[in-house]
Amino acid sequence: MPEPTYYLETFGCQMNVLDSQLVEGQLVQRGMRRVDSFRDADIILFNTCSVRQHAEDKVLSRLGQLKTLKRRRPETIVGVIGCMAEREREGVFIKAPHVDLLCGPGELNRLPALIDEVRDRQEQVVALAGSLSRRTEVLQRALEYDSLEALDLSRAPVAGESELQSYIRVQRGCDKFCTYCVVPFTRGPERSRPAEHIVQEARLLAQRGCREVTLLGQTVNSYLSQEDGRPVCFAQLLERVHAVDGIDRVRFVTSFPADWDDDIFRVMRDCPKICTYLHIPAQSGSDRILKAMRRTYSTADYLRLMDTARRFVPDVSLAGDFIVGFCGETDADFAATIDLVRRVRYQNVFVFKYSPRPGTAADRNLDDDVPADVKLQRNHELLAVQHEVGLAQKQSLVGQTVEVLVEGYSKLARRLQESEQDRGTEVTQRPSRQLVGRTPGDQITVFNGDESLIGALARVRITSASALTLFGEVHALVSPRRTPPPPPPAGLTPLRVLGAEPSGAR
Ligand code: 5AD
Ligand code: SF4
Repeated sequence: MPEPTYYLETFGCQMNVLDSQLVEGQLVQRGMRRVDSFRDADIILFNTCSVRQHAEDKVLSRLGQLKTLKRRRPETIVGVIGCMAEREREGVFIKAPHVDLLCGPGELNRLPALIDEVRDRQEQVVALAGSLSRRTEVLQRALEYDSLEALDLSRAPVAGESELQSYIRVQRGCDKFCTYCVVPFTRGPERSRPAEHIVQEARLLAQRGCREVTLLGQTVNSYLSQEDGRPVCFAQLLERVHAVDGIDRVRFVTSFPADWDDDIFRVMRDCPKICTYLHIPAQSGSDRILKAMRRTYSTADYLRLMDTARRFVPDVSLAGDFIVGFCGETDADFAATIDLVRRVRYQNVFVFKYSPRPGTAADRNLDDDVPADVKLQRNHELLAVQHEVGLAQKQSLVGQTVEVLVEGYSKLARRLQESEQDRGTEVTQRPSRQLVGRTPGDQITVFNGDESLIGALARVRITSASALTLFGEVHALVSPRRTPPPPPPAGLTPLRVLGAEPSGAR
């Protein structure tokens, strides 16, 4: 029998990208093969996002496209996994009756068993927090945390995926309950992973050729685990990952302003491999709105934190998220947000129009009273202000030399190469050798260079800048690419799972 094929499409945040990689690892270990078109797949999976209605609408529309395929080939398994499965629960079956499988983000370790169950029983199966499917009812909940840990620790390499940069989860869930946000409902309570597991993962990734790890958590700086009865805080975790041989860069996202501890700045200042980048969402520049969002800090607190960041790490690059058009946001509130963006001088901001999420406190208690056209207008306006701010930030780097981890060909170079290949031209004389990489401050940097630089750390002199990109020329090689050893045989899990972390370790 030919190997079963799967198609997996990911929506949403970096945590979902990581979950998808781990799911793929499991499927590949069980002898399945990835295909790039859902038409060729025996199993079609959507790893979904619920943070805004728009993200869910996109998934529903993709599911709609599968109706005819499923009618023609009913044996194809269609699965909705991740946050939307958890939020909508069996409601997904009402909107899309051709879906076979629902699996929440906290149950992904069970996905292969669920796929078998659909195939054996020919019925819809569900694995969501608090709703065990019939067969899995026998599994004891006490084992659940360990098997979720095993999912993160297994990390089978997936063919074709770059191992140069990797995500490592340091926390699951969130306890903040910002009034607009669905994440605490879909990803459950905050739990920090054991520090030793995180360090083991970093070591394993380094052995496979990874040079940059990004530590992921919804509020990553609130990380707190226990080890031999002693607490391990985020600053200590950073130091330990920093000490892993072979890892040249450590990033972390996303930070929560109110939980900040200056020890993290000290580690950023003293440990050269910790990237000078902080993604620390403000969400609004108006104290009234921050209160309605239940963010637990004021604009003054936030600005003070940004000043302290610059005092410890003068070249720190700051990024943030903002929600425009939150319930009750007036022109004056929005003007305060604009003012904050100008004062902080961000490298980059992400702007979102408020989208009411069922079940959240804002949806229950507050009026979504800012009209859609005003939300859109504010979105454009804030991005225009950031364009100016970001351009000034980037232009201040012109003439300086920055360190770049070279990720690959730039988009332009790839497009040119594809068109060359389409024309059947020999690809030895490339029309463009434009490469792209990132600085420690996460600035995208484009420069000409040889293919052998991909995977290397290089110093690039910046010659010009746009609001989103730096342009430069290679000045020196810092350290050449490392050739990763051949991947270990599939199915090998060389890592030990430590005992279960008591939930709510904080
Ligand atoms: N509507 C719009 N944006 C939201 N975000 C979270 N919830 C919502 C919502 N209901 C944004 C926040 C968060 C980012 C990941 O998504 O800015 O930081
Ligand atoms: Fe959502 Fe707030 Fe938690 Fe971030 S901190 S995931 S915005 S509840």
